[in-house]
Amino acid sequence: MSRKPIIAGNWKLNLTVDEGVALVQALAAPAAASKAEVVVCPTALGVHAVAKAAAGTAIGVGGQNCHWEEKGAFTGEISASLLKAAGAKYVILGHSERRQFFAETDETVNKRLKAVLAQGLIPLVCIGETLAERDGGKLEEILSRQVKGALAGFTAAQLSTLVIAYEPVWAIGTGRTASTQQAQDAHAFVRSVLRGIVGGLADAVRIQYGGSVKADNAKELLSQPDVDGALVGGASLKAADFTAIIAAA
Ligand code: PGA
Repeated sequence: MSRKPIIAGNWKLNLTVDEGVALVQALAAPAAASKAEVVVCPTALGVHAVAKAAAGTAIGVGGQNCHWEEKGAFTGEISASLLKAAGAKYVILGHSERRQFFAETDETVNKRLKAVLAQGLIPLVCIGETLAERDGGKLEEILSRQVKGALAGFTAAQLSTLVIAYEPVWAIGTGRTASTQQAQDAHAFVRSVLRGIVGGLADAVRIQYGGSVKADNAKELLSQPDVDGALVGGASLKAADFTAIIAAA
């Protein structure tokens, strides 16, 4: 089955609103020329202005997280419905930095996913093992637990837009990338877990690779049969770097 590659930039806690607007303007032409679906995920503060700047281009905008409640007394939080109203079409969920620094669990990812799907937004659900888990032979156990935990209680029909991002924690921001074989093996395993949950839809779910994706390794990673795109951190912050990755897709 052919899956449209999806290249998403995760800007994390970087770029002012004005810098984000300028970056998305610089990416408009390369995104239009690309066969891939191109997404940028600014800080929550930047979503509205960046989405406005991206309107009419081939670039979609996403949030980096959202709360599971739609509104109420939750100081400091934003909701899926607010992201949508601000122009977002995607939301990253369960990023390893959220798991590591902000107590995110499979259970809270599952709750946030429910809110994201209820708004008709496209979820980019992040999973991935630490180096200790990989070295301890726990890779498949961890990935399986994270996928099943995130998707618990949903029907295949509800998950028709699902995107998974496989990001080995040891490769994020370290300059150390999984080998193409390690990436392909993990992606194929994740797809087999998905098959057990959503059946034939597993062949349509896009699985992005993330973790030190750069212009010089993107092509090889993206050439793997089960690697359907990339979630890019550091190399998404400069137009030239991200353009090269978009072009590789
Ligand atoms: P990186 O980040 O490309 O800087 O390693 C990837 C991510 O965390 O999504």
